[in-house]
Amino acid sequence: MSTERPQHAPSSTGVLARAQNIRCVYGGGEEDFTAVDGVSIALGEGEVLGLAGESGCGKTTLGNALAMIAAPPLYVLSGTLEIDDGTIDLSTLSHDDVKRHRPYRGRTVSMLPQGAMNSISPTLRISSLIKDVMRAHDPRITKDEALDLARERLKMLEMPVRVLDSYAHQLSGGMKQRMITVISTLQNPRLLIADEPTSALDVSSQRMLVEMLLEMVEQRIMSGVVFVTHDLPVLSQVSDRLAIMHAGRIVESGPTRQLVEDAQHPYTRKLLGSVLDPSQETRARGIARRSAPVTPEEVGER
Ligand SMILES: Nc1ncnc2c1ncn2[C@@H]1O[C@H](COP(=O)(O)OP(=O)(O)OP(=O)(O)O)[C@@H](O)[C@H]1O
Ligand SMILES: [Mg+2]
Repeated sequence: MSTERPQHAPSSTGVLARAQNIRCVYGGGEEDFTAVDGVSIALGEGEVLGLAGESGCGKTTLGNALAMIAAPPLYVLSGTLEIDDGTIDLSTLSHDDVKRHRPYRGRTVSMLPQGAMNSISPTLRISSLIKDVMRAHDPRITKDEALDLARERLKMLEMPVRVLDSYAHQLSGGMKQRMITVISTLQNPRLLIADEPTSALDVSSQRMLVEMLLEMVEQRIMSGVVFVTHDLPVLSQVSDRLAIMHAGRIVESGPTRQLVEDAQHPYTRKLLGSVLDPSQETRARGIARRSAPVTPEEVGER
């Protein structure tokens, strides 16, 4: 078996994916809690869609539904995903639905989970992790084939191949996150859901990760990304379009520039304005602060 995997041809319509009417609840307690309430989103070929909203608004839940990895107590009550000329029913109401989704997981849609870089087993070398992940998705692939594929991918992305021999604790946070990203896309998914991929990184690691993701889209390793974060400056740089989520619903979506410059919904204005356009008061505080001498207390000296 060759480790060369076909890269995707763009769809003829220019639309990569369209998700409709996704409703998710957390059940099992006294009452179901609706975390995603009738969300619809669409993504063009080669597009990065930024999904933003305050903590707890339902971004991760929506990502799990799209990636078909919802598991109790999370239930997807309704929702469809049109992708590759087919329509997938996203609902997960019985064990059969889990089986129905298996062929799409990791291949059609792959999830880069929030905080994944911190859950790599400390006893596994990255190479073993890759073999395990690849073989879990496709038991026919041999260990050598999995590693060959990973090596090829790292070279393509100009990353050091020797990382494969390392344990997670030997890598910087930025390198760990880039490796996890590479691993989650080894099967060339059509769509990657990247949940807070930059949140725990410093600015230069954030930039490297974002550049790598854009390079992967360019190289057609995947054809689109839903980039989830509450880090709006990062989102406004990386996203072609934004979808703003509030209390389980998308309140506004559109081209990034249009939303940043001319948001219509008050919540979007509040969210974007709070970061991208500091208020007069904040600006004044910043100016006052910069012009004031630094006190010993400020640098931790007493
Ligand atoms: N396992 C669970 N059981 C019950 N409720 C849950 C569970 N996981 C999440 N929730 C609730 O669902 C809602 C949406 O959570 P979710 O994790 O999707 O938010 P988020 O937008 O990703 O937040 P963050 O930005 O903090 O990652 C929240 O109110 C949360 O408390
Ligand atoms: Mg989340």
